[in-house]
Amino acid sequence: MSAYEEKAAARMRESLKRGGITLLAIETSCDETAAAVVRNGREVLSNVVHTQIPLHRKYGGVVPEIASRNHVEQIGPVVDKALKDAGVRLHELDGVAVTYGPGLIGALLVGVSYAKGLAFAEGLPLIAVNHIAGHIAANYLTFPDLEPPFVCLVASGGHSHIVAVEDYCTFRLLGRTRDDAAGEAFDKIARVLGLPYPGGPALEKLAAEGSAEKEPFHAGFNAQPILDFSFSGLKTAVINRIHTAAQRGESVDRADVAAGFQEAVVSVLTEKSVRAALEQGASTLALAGGVSANKALRARMAAAARKRQLRFCCPEFTYCTDNAAMIGCAGHALFLRGALAPLSLNGSANAQFL
Ligand code: KG4
Ligand code: ZN
Repeated sequence: MSAYEEKAAARMRESLKRGGITLLAIETSCDETAAAVVRNGREVLSNVVHTQIPLHRKYGGVVPEIASRNHVEQIGPVVDKALKDAGVRLHELDGVAVTYGPGLIGALLVGVSYAKGLAFAEGLPLIAVNHIAGHIAANYLTFPDLEPPFVCLVASGGHSHIVAVEDYCTFRLLGRTRDDAAGEAFDKIARVLGLPYPGGPALEKLAAEGSAEKEPFHAGFNAQPILDFSFSGLKTAVINRIHTAAQRGESVDRADVAAGFQEAVVSVLTEKSVRAALEQGASTLALAGGVSANKALRARMAAAARKRQLRFCCPEFTYCTDNAAMIGCAGHALFLRGALAPLSLNGSANAQFL
C-alpha cells in the first residue's frame, strides 16, 4: 500500500465511524462535464452540468477529440462551482467519486485524472463508479425510500439493458439490445429526419405533432418471447420508408414517421421490461438513462406497471441525462462497502458493468 492509500484508507475508516458522508462526484464520460456534492448518497448539495451539445451540434454527433479538450477546459471551473454551490470546502469532503467507464476514453481520462489529483493532494478516498450503475442510482435521488431489489431498464445513448438490481452494488443482466442502444436508434433516425443533435429530444418533439397510426412500424425480432431486443430492423424499416417514398416522388409526413418510430421503441422497451419484472417477481420497475427523459416512454411504462400492480420509478428530468449527482449516489454505496480505488485507476472505454 502506498502512503496515499494508507492515508485514504484511514480517512475512510474515520468517516465511516463518524457517519454523515459527503462526496464530491465527477462525471466526464461523454459530452457533459459534471460535478456534484452529495451527502449520505441521497441529499444533493450541488449539481453542476456543463453541456457541450452546442459544440458538437454542427457535426451531427459527439466528436471525441473536441469533447476531451472541452472537458479539460471546463473541469476546474465546474468542480469549483459544485463546491461553492454546496458551501463545502475541500477538507470537509469524505471522498471523491468519479466515473471510470464506460464512455469515450479521452473524455473519461479528464475526470479520472482530475479526481486522482484531487484525492492525492487532499488525502481523500477515491471511489471508482461505473456510469451505468450511476444511471440506475439516479432513481434513489428522486425516490429516497427506494431500495433494492428491483428491476431497472437502463436506456441511454450507448446502452440498453434490463437489469435485476439485487443490491446497491450487485446487478444481474436480464436482457439487452442485440445491436443499437435505444438512444442511438433515436439519434440515427432523428438524423435521417433532418433533426439536430442530440436526436432524442428533437424526435420526441416532432413525434408529438404526428400520429403513430398513420406510420406504423412492426415489432419483427422483438415479437419473440425473450428479454433481448433489437432496434436495427426497425431502423432499417424507417429508413426504407423514407427513401422509398423519396424515390417514388411521394411525400411523407415526418411527424407521423417520428411518432410511428417512437411508438415502436416505447412499446418494445415497455413490453420487455414489464415482462422481466414479472418473471423476477419484482414489486418495483424502474427506468434510467438518457432515454428515460422521453415522456412517451415514462407514461407508457408507468401505465403498464400500474396495470400489473408494480411500483414504477424514474428519475426527475435533471437526473435522467448525464450528471454527477447520480455518480455521487452510486459512489456512496461503494464508500459504505469500503471500495477504495487505487491511484493506478484508469479510464475504461468498455468498462464491464454486468
Ligand atoms: O445517458 P445519456 O445522457 O448519455 C449516455 O450515457 O449515452 O443518454 C443520451 C441519449 C442520447 O442518445 C439522447 O438522444 C437520448 O439519450 N435522449 C432521449 C431523450 N433525451 C435524451 N431519447 C428520447 N427522448 C428523449 N427525450
Ligand atoms: Zn449516460
